[in-house]
Amino acid sequence: MKNARRRSFNNDFEADVFAGLNANPKHLNSKYFYDAQGDALFQKIMALSEYYLCAREFDIIEANKRKMAELFSAGGGFDLVEFGAGDGKKTKVLLRHLHARQVDFKYCPVDISENAVQQLCDSLKQTLPDLRVEPHIGTYAQVLTKLADYRERKKLILFLGSNIGNFTLDAAVSFLQQIRASMGRDDRLLVGFDQKKHPQRILDAYRDKAGVTEAFNKNLLRRMNRELGAHFDPDTFVYWPVYQPEESVIKSYLVSKIAQQVYIEALDFKACFQPWESIHTENSQKFDDPSIRQLAQQAGLVVTEVFSDANSDYRNYIFRNSLVI
Ligand SMILES: C[S@@+](CC[C@H](N)C(=O)[O-])C[C@H]1O[C@@H](n2cnc3c(N)ncnc32)[C@H](O)[C@@H]1O
Repeated sequence: MKNARRRSFNNDFEADVFAGLNANPKHLNSKYFYDAQGDALFQKIMALSEYYLCAREFDIIEANKRKMAELFSAGGGFDLVEFGAGDGKKTKVLLRHLHARQVDFKYCPVDISENAVQQLCDSLKQTLPDLRVEPHIGTYAQVLTKLADYRERKKLILFLGSNIGNFTLDAAVSFLQQIRASMGRDDRLLVGFDQKKHPQRILDAYRDKAGVTEAFNKNLLRRMNRELGAHFDPDTFVYWPVYQPEESVIKSYLVSKIAQQVYIEALDFKACFQPWESIHTENSQKFDDPSIRQLAQQAGLVVTEVFSDANSDYRNYIFRNSLVI
């Protein structure tokens, strides 16, 4: 059984691809969407009319930047740590505002994509040259272990874009618990949550007419071809997002149209697909106020502020650690 023997891997991507394509049902982690090509495709997604999440969160931050800045900067300087910063489009609204008011702060973007972090730092150097930036290239898990080191002064942690929806609910609680464990009395956590709404609007956001989200998902196959010497033909897969209202989650799949064996050179492994067999590529959980408060309670957090767009399509919540007084 060649496929089942113990192996050593050069990196997490190899190990996770091997495990995910050997599993039944097959799955790949959505964090692997984001290489340079994936980052560029995600920027196109953010500009799509169907993908309302980005525009709504931008509106919320733009409309509330003054209040947010006052809340964060009360009582002195702080460190602003952002998980999954991406291109920082929405964060820059806040950064520009804080900078213009000469608030004493340092910005620490965290992202698994080296390309995204590099582009963000380059653009900040152009637009806010004297801003103090301390980037981290790595996974959330890797940087979570360093979060407690930011304790000399107050810290604000950002988690925008409804990235929290990419976790299962259990994993979201665990992630928030780990953040909470690093939070002192004055620290705050700002999280963006896409809200439950008409299932058609949610589905359309992940099934745009131009096919950009399909290309974004299929970039996973192309990335395995580029980095692992895999031989996937993306045209033999159908991109298939489904919205399950009972669990309030979009689940995205790549479904093989044919029986096929795809050789992956770096793993010396053939991924075998039955006709119509799927690879689960992403979860995008949707929330409402009760589900957010339940999540917070399970993680030991308490809500201090809620910001919403006019239609309650999207909301940003600020939390504090409920276990420190
Ligand atoms: C959906 S994009 C959102 C970007 C930005 N927060 C926004 O709202 O526009 C997700 C970002 O998180 C990063 N990311 C995803 N999973 C990650 C992980 N496990 N660890 C670190 N970064 C991750 C991706 O590289 C990407 O830049």
